[in-house]
Order: sequence, then structure tokens, then C-alpha cells
Amino acid sequence: MYAIGQILRVLREEREMQLSNVQEISGIEMTLLSKIETGKRLPTIEQVQKLARIYDFDDKTLLIQRESDQILVNVKSPDIAVEALRVATDKLNFGEKYLQRFQEEIYRAPLALESRRYIGSKSKLSDWIMEIIDSETEGVQIFCDIFAGTGTIANHAIKKYDRVIINDFLYANHVIYKAFFGSGEWSKQVISKHIASYNSIDPDTLEDNFFSINFGDKYYDYKVSKVIGFIRDDIEAKKNILTEKEYNILLATLIYNIDKIANTVGHFEAYIKKPIKSQPLILRPIDACSFEHVEIYREDSNELAKKISCDLLYIDPPYNSRQYCRFYHLYETLVKWNKPKLFGVALKPAPENMSKYCSIKAVDAFRDLVTSIETKYIVVSYNNTYNSKSNSSENKIRLEEIKSILEELGETNIFDKSHRCFNAGKTEFDDHRELLFVTKKHGKKNI
Ligand SMILES: C[S@@+](CC[C@H](N)C(=O)[O-])C[C@H]1O[C@@H](n2cnc3c(N)ncnc32)[C@H](O)[C@@H]1O
Repeated sequence: MYAIGQILRVLREEREMQLSNVQEISGIEMTLLSKIETGKRLPTIEQVQKLARIYDFDDKTLLIQRESDQILVNVKSPDIAVEALRVATDKLNFGEKYLQRFQEEIYRAPLALESRRYIGSKSKLSDWIMEIIDSETEGVQIFCDIFAGTGTIANHAIKKYDRVIINDFLYANHVIYKAFFGSGEWSKQVISKHIASYNSIDPDTLEDNFFSINFGDKYYDYKVSKVIGFIRDDIEAKKNILTEKEYNILLATLIYNIDKIANTVGHFEAYIKKPIKSQPLILRPIDACSFEHVEIYREDSNELAKKISCDLLYIDPPYNSRQYCRFYHLYETLVKWNKPKLFGVALKPAPENMSKYCSIKAVDAFRDLVTSIETKYIVVSYNNTYNSKSNSSENKIRLEEIKSILEELGETNIFDKSHRCFNAGKTEFDDHRELLFVTKKHGKKNI
């Protein structure tokens, strides 16, 4: 259905002309004119120009109507059409320069909290988890994500609850939470100024540094690693003139951007033993915000549990022997920046923050955690990798153990969702199931 036809009909009727008169003057068949006026046929450009002359009407206005009808018939997805039209306008306006503009636009868009590679991240499951929490709980004001990892669950909780407690014992995660969520003064201009100056660094003018000596041509291209080390030194040197929030934003910006170009499969247990594609490090800002109702900790989960109280405790611990401090040791080294002695092919520092949840003490640690915290609800994420073929991927806490510990504490419901998980190794997760336990404790006080 073309709207131009209806407009032409109105013009004709206003001029009190019959279709036969128009046929006579224009030479366009009456049947065709009728099809045009009823919106069944799109007139050609020449036909529009002829009719505009006959009706003494501005031909450009009619041609715009015709063009828009033609665009509309090609719209296949109305929900994105408006945005597509904006992009089409840009393409028309910028011609050959459009691609460059597109890249600049992408570059300006800040990096979201979820745009990070992290084993066990719940970012793809967060809607499912939050929906269940929403329907299974009531009266929750204080939400605690005690093994927050990327912080994606806390990020959802921030929009919903009066107070959100975020914890993870890794240094890099702590800096990331402070950068994305922490309160405190900061200036967007200061951050942009530093990012712009870091983006203009010429690696050939830089000296070797701790980062390039250790990680160059391993986890990162040698030149890029010189830039990373230089930026890290510079952030530290400016610690006194930056606010704490700005310092954390710059560190998190560095982590998020180098995550995109690391020569790894997504963690730092090893680097890929192939030549690294050389590419410049161009930093994009992160989507930093400030929230007054967020509390951020970097503590052992079980220690923290004895000090805080909440209405809902979300628990997503590691379940196998693979330690997160070893997976992400490079970011720990980068954030702590005490330039430690590094060991082995993977260049790890001495172990710190080794989790009990990755050891035979896991069941006791879990029991201690859920019984010592004062909370109304306990929500536990669990995935059934315990029957896997690789020893390091074997679960340290069995499904039955979690279930019986939680059932002792209160009424427990279990939800499941088939989910393909992030897995770089040989473990087969064909029958992988993601579970969510929701326990309503018998009393708010610990038992
Ligand atoms: C499975 S990940 C959590 C993933 C997170 N829910 C997400 O969506 O990104 C487990 C996290 O627990 C942290 N962790 C392990 N043991 C801990 C402990 N004892 N205390 C505090 N954090 C711990 C690890 O550093 C890791 O980030």
C-alpha cells in the first residue's frame, strides 16, 4: 500500500478532475492511474513529475513521498527500522567517510561491565537468575553477592534493592567494582584526557619495563606490552593527583581493554604459542557509574559472612580445583603492581587468595558460610560438572551435599536450566545443567 497514491487522489479531487481528464493530459492509462491512486502500484519518477505539473504542485514534495514509500516496502523488521533509517541517513551524508565515522562511534561507546571474558560469568544467565529471585522472595532490601566475579549479578541487583554488598577476594575484581559502582568524586574530562594521552603513545619511544620484560611476546605483542607497562606506571605515578575513583577507573579501563587483545583462550593459565598479531592498544572508556547504596569488599567470603547481615545472600563459588587467582594472575600482578618474582611458563606470582572452595575443604567451607551469615534467603548457583572426565573440573561439592545442607537450613526449591557454559578445556559439558537453589531460612538469625 503506497501512500503517494492517496495524496495524488486528494490533489486530483481538489482540482475537480476525473481520471479520464488526467489520462487525456498525461497519457497515463486510466487503469494504471486507478491502481496508483488506490496504493496498489508505485508511480515512476516520470509519472510523479507529470502529475505534479498537471496538479500544479511541488514535484519535490511528491518525489519525497514516493521515495519514502519505496523505502517502507523494503522494511522487513519494523522494530529496528527507525534506527536503520538513522544509519542510512548517516551513510548518505558521510558517503565514503562513513566507515571511519562508524569506527569512531564504536570507539566512543563505553565498555559495559559484562564485556569481559571470565570463567563462570553468569552474564548470560543473569535474567533467569534475577527472575527466579524476584518470584521466590519477598521483602528483600539488602542483597549480597559474596563471590561476585565479574559483578554481573550485583549489577542487576543494584537496580532493584536498597543496599547491595559486593565481594570477591581478587584485587582486580575489587578495582573493577570500585570503578563501575563505587561512590566518590571523579571527572569524566580527567579520564578522557588520560585515555587520549595513552592512546597517542608511540611504543618505539618507550623503554622496556616490568610488563614488557615478563609478558612481552607471550601474553601480548611486545610493543603493546611496553605500552601497558608504561600506562600502569603512569597511573601509579599519578595516584596522588587522581581521586580514588579516577585511579580505579583508569586501572579498570586498562584491564578491560587489554582483555580484548590477550593472546589467550580467555584466562592466563597459559598463552597461545603462536606469533601474536601486532595491533595497537586503543583504550575505550568503561561505563563507570557511582552508587551510594553499594558496599564493596575484598575479603574471604567466610570471614565477611561473620561480619555482615543481609536479606538475600547470593552464592556462586568456584566448584572445582581451578583457582581464580591463578586463572587471572596477570590482572592481580597488574593491579597490585609490586612487581613480584614470577614463576613458571605462565609467569604467575606466588599464590595468594587460594580458595578453600577449590579444595577438599569445600563442603565444610560451604556449610560454615551458610550457617554463619544472618540472612532471610540463600540463593546458590550450581552447575553439575562433577561427573566430568577431567580431575581439575570435578566438583568439590556434590549436588546432594549442597541440597542436604540447604534443606537443613530451611525450605529449599531447586530450579534448573540447560545451559552451555564457557569451557576452554577437554571437559565434556554435554549434559551441562545450571541449577539455582533458593532457600528460605527458618529464621533470620543463624542456626
Ligand atoms: C564462579 S565465580 C563467580 C562468578 C560470578 N557470579 C559472575 O557472574 O561473574 C567465583 C568467584 O569467587 C571468588 N572467590 C573464590 N573463593 C573466594 C573466597 N573464599 N572469598 C571470596 N571470593 C572468592 C573468585 O575469585 C571468583 O571470582
